Amino acid sequence: MAQNQKSGGLSHEKIETSNFLMIVLILIVLLFGGMVEIVPLFFQKSTTQPIEGLKPYTALQVAGRDVYVREGCYNCHSQMIRPFRAETLRYGSYSVAGEFVYDHPFQWGSKRTGPDLARVGGRYSDEWHRIHLNNPRDVVPESNMPAYSWLEKNPVDGASLPAHMKGLRTLGAPYSDEEIAKAAEDVKGKSEMDAVIAYLQGMGIHRK
Ligand code: HEC
Repeated sequence: MAQNQKSGGLSHEKIETSNFLMIVLILIVLLFGGMVEIVPLFFQKSTTQPIEGLKPYTALQVAGRDVYVREGCYNCHSQMIRPFRAETLRYGSYSVAGEFVYDHPFQWGSKRTGPDLARVGGRYSDEWHRIHLNNPRDVVPESNMPAYSWLEKNPVDGASLPAHMKGLRTLGAPYSDEEIAKAAEDVKGKSEMDAVIAYLQGMGIHRK
């Protein structure tokens, strides 16, 4: 701009030549945009209410989910089917927010070295999963998924489950005191393998 040209108030030149102003104004724009997009999600029924028939995880499934997180299965598997034809043809109907209201933390992920697991429940028998987790190559010769054979030998840690389920209850899972009290009893004699399989078999079965 020529020197003799005056610019009044908060001119573009003033903003663009001041780091401070630029940063503050960008932050205000982002804050506003973020609020408009994010805040309504906390109040919309479609994102806060469970879909029809959705149940919170059983004690065994809670334990299985912990194993899933501990072993890092999410590093290779997503749990979210996007609304594209190629995805719905391969995996089943696309995922909706109401399926995940009892998932804390959610396991959506985006890395797909292996297939999406959002609707794997009921796709195979328990026995198939057992063989597959013990050594994936026994059922899928070209598989590069690691074997998890030790899960069969690890008993489920039932003692930690009541505290875990109480935590989930504060986040919205409607467990009764009774269910929480008998959690350890429910998983007695079960291995971590049983737990992961129970978790996998419950995945996505409420919306096919
Ligand atoms: C290094 C990447 C990797 C990791 C980690 C991994 N997987 Fe896989 N998984 C794969 C690949 C690749 C396939 C496809 C080949 C096959 O079926 O073995 C697969 C397939 C599967 C399938 C069959 C899905 C279908 O629709 O056919 C299941 C179930 C599964 N994995 C569960 C698990 C679980 C549970 C864990 C954690 C204990 C896990 N995976 C960890 C790579 C991985």
